[in-house]
Amino acid sequence: MGNILRSTFFSFIFVLCVLATSARQHYHRAHSRQDIQFQKEVYLESRSKREVTTLTDYDSDSVFLPADAADDSPPSTADDLPTCLLCVCLTGSVYCEEVSPDMTNVPALPKETAYLYARYNKIKKITAKDFEDIVTLKRIDLTGNLISQIEDGAFSKLPLLEELSLAENHLVKLPIMPAKLISFNANHNHLKTKGVKANAFKKTNKLVNLYLAHNELEAVPHIPESVRILHLQNNNISSVSVDTFCKGNNTYYIRPNMNEIRMDGNPVNLAQYPDSFTCLKVLPIGRY
Ligand SMILES: *[C@@H]1O[C@H](CO)[C@@H](O)[C@H](O)[C@H]1NC(C)=O
Ligand SMILES: *[C@@H]1O[C@H](CO)[C@@H](O)[C@H](O)[C@H]1NC(C)=O
Repeated sequence: MGNILRSTFFSFIFVLCVLATSARQHYHRAHSRQDIQFQKEVYLESRSKREVTTLTDYDSDSVFLPADAADDSPPSTADDLPTCLLCVCLTGSVYCEEVSPDMTNVPALPKETAYLYARYNKIKKITAKDFEDIVTLKRIDLTGNLISQIEDGAFSKLPLLEELSLAENHLVKLPIMPAKLISFNANHNHLKTKGVKANAFKKTNKLVNLYLAHNELEAVPHIPESVRILHLQNNNISSVSVDTFCKGNNTYYIRPNMNEIRMDGNPVNLAQYPDSFTCLKVLPIGRY
């Protein structure tokens, strides 16, 4: 009887040990899974809290700092701005894409911002004040907003700005360009020749990529010699001249950098202007 009891007891202890080991392994696995789930929840919760806390005052000019949001983020200059509660601010970069609630103005930016991504929002207007104090900006991407108005000086006073995208907006005229610009994208707007002054790009002598496709242009603006890629497809251009790309009074002139011109989707029949492309290394793409 004693033997049976003892062996039952030891079997019981053994089973307990096995159970405990497997439970521990299970716990570790489950725990790391829980960790991830938990972190995800905390992230989502803090995100939705940010969205809600900034909802009320987002559009006003005042700097609005919700009390609980201030509590859960360590103090730093970037986090003091409501922008960084709504957007993601990393050193030098601000990401405000498809912000909810609707973002209708350029948000206040942390000092020293170099890269701003504010795509697919509801921004309607760019004022001269929006970027006034952020002279460190190198790239601004405002693709997919509702911009129809840009005040003079909004971009032209940014000494380091190299890339600017205003694609997929409602522009009928171009802003004044900053001198250091390398890449400019205004595809898919309503640009008209009246709104693109012949000398709009005269001072941008570092410009390499110029995208003006899917607009309502009726003429090719002056193109700086530095440009390598020029997109003018799907406009309303019906003619070109010997001075459009080349120099009518100098048949020896070669345009050194240009290696892609798209003019497809325009009414112009390029075959009618054989003397207009003699300085180019590649013919424009389009109808011949
Ligand atoms: C395209 O240009 C022609 C003149 O060359 C003009 O009559 C026509 O209205 C223009 N179309 C658009 C869509 O702007
Ligand atoms: C060609 O015309 C431009 C202005 O259109 C002028 O600045 C330049 O001096 C002329 N060059 C020659 C060789 O006549």
